[in-house]
Amino acid sequence: MSREETMVRKNSYLTDSIKDVDELPCSHPASVNIDVANCYYSLAKMIRPLLIVEIGCFIGFSTLHFVQALREQGFGKMISIDAFDWDVDAGNGQENRQNVALRYRKKAQVEDILTYVKGYSTEVYSQLESIIKNKIDLLYIDGDHSPRGVFHDFNTYYDDVRVGGYILLHDIYPAMCGEQGPRVLIDHLKSRGLIPRRLELLELPTRDGFGVAVIRKTSGDSLRVHLLGSGFGLIGNFIKKAARKLTGKYPCLRKRNFIGSEAIIQINVVDADSRTPVPGALLICPQRWDEKQVADPSGTVTLDHYLPNRYLWNISAENYHGVNEFLIDVAANKTVQQFTVMLERV
Ligand SMILES: C[S@@+](CC[C@H](N)C(=O)[O-])C[C@H]1O[C@@H](n2cnc3c(N)ncnc32)[C@H](O)[C@@H]1O
Repeated sequence: MSREETMVRKNSYLTDSIKDVDELPCSHPASVNIDVANCYYSLAKMIRPLLIVEIGCFIGFSTLHFVQALREQGFGKMISIDAFDWDVDAGNGQENRQNVALRYRKKAQVEDILTYVKGYSTEVYSQLESIIKNKIDLLYIDGDHSPRGVFHDFNTYYDDVRVGGYILLHDIYPAMCGEQGPRVLIDHLKSRGLIPRRLELLELPTRDGFGVAVIRKTSGDSLRVHLLGSGFGLIGNFIKKAARKLTGKYPCLRKRNFIGSEAIIQINVVDADSRTPVPGALLICPQRWDEKQVADPSGTVTLDHYLPNRYLWNISAENYHGVNEFLIDVAANKTVQQFTVMLERV
């Protein structure tokens, strides 16, 4: 049996429609990567939800994974909301994203389980309210990633998540994904003690570094969160400024969060015999969508915005034997880290 066939056998989530969407030119990185999607599928299978609500489907990649879990369990429905307000290249030139999502919903034969709702998440709430009121078992927030957008989505849908139900947030590490909102929300929930008083939190530092938060609701109390500085106006801004000044002056007041901390990494590529630099060497990281880096004239590649994790790189250079799966193990407690890879001449 080929490696591919083994994969398909092992993962029933990997349906033809999921594979098709994964391979569309527009799919990644806007869609979550396949490992994260697989995790969603598994989570849904464990939670056995009756109702999943997703905010932000893009073209339905994460959506198809949740829905596959529902189909396999034999019950449950999913509502997925998206503004569908720009077109993408899904292989036949520019096309409306809703059409793409509907095409693969049809191909996956899940029209009876999955409803796509076009519109802005907070605006369509009134049309959904009677169907979702107090019924959401799994809420996935992956729409407007600005702090304001994430806070709005959280406030609009939170009360309808059942006690014991789950809220998933994607893109929780701003340094890696460039999005601020999910992190600001998590930090806000923590700083107000809502985590752990009313919510449990597990942060999953995914291989691509974007990260997923799994939040579980343990209290039925209604909740509204407010962005400091917008909800509290001038007083909020004053407190924020004062806190910034204090933490700048007294490092001991700064929160130490190793998982969220970034490191600057230098990879030096050198000739194995002479130890001289190999400029122009090509480094590719398959874990990060084949991110490519080229060694500078001193044979060095400098990477910033990397979270503590282990990353495998494939390294090649003209006239040298390539090195596959060179491991850089980015430690949690050092801000600058150096690695050396030696290449043998052909
Ligand atoms: C990162 S993509 C979602 C990716 C998708 N969950 C996946 O992993 O396959 C974000 C999506 O959110 C949608 N979006 C952004 N703000 C929104 C809002 N306020 N209401 C509804 N959809 C929104 C965008 O149109 C976009 O398709």
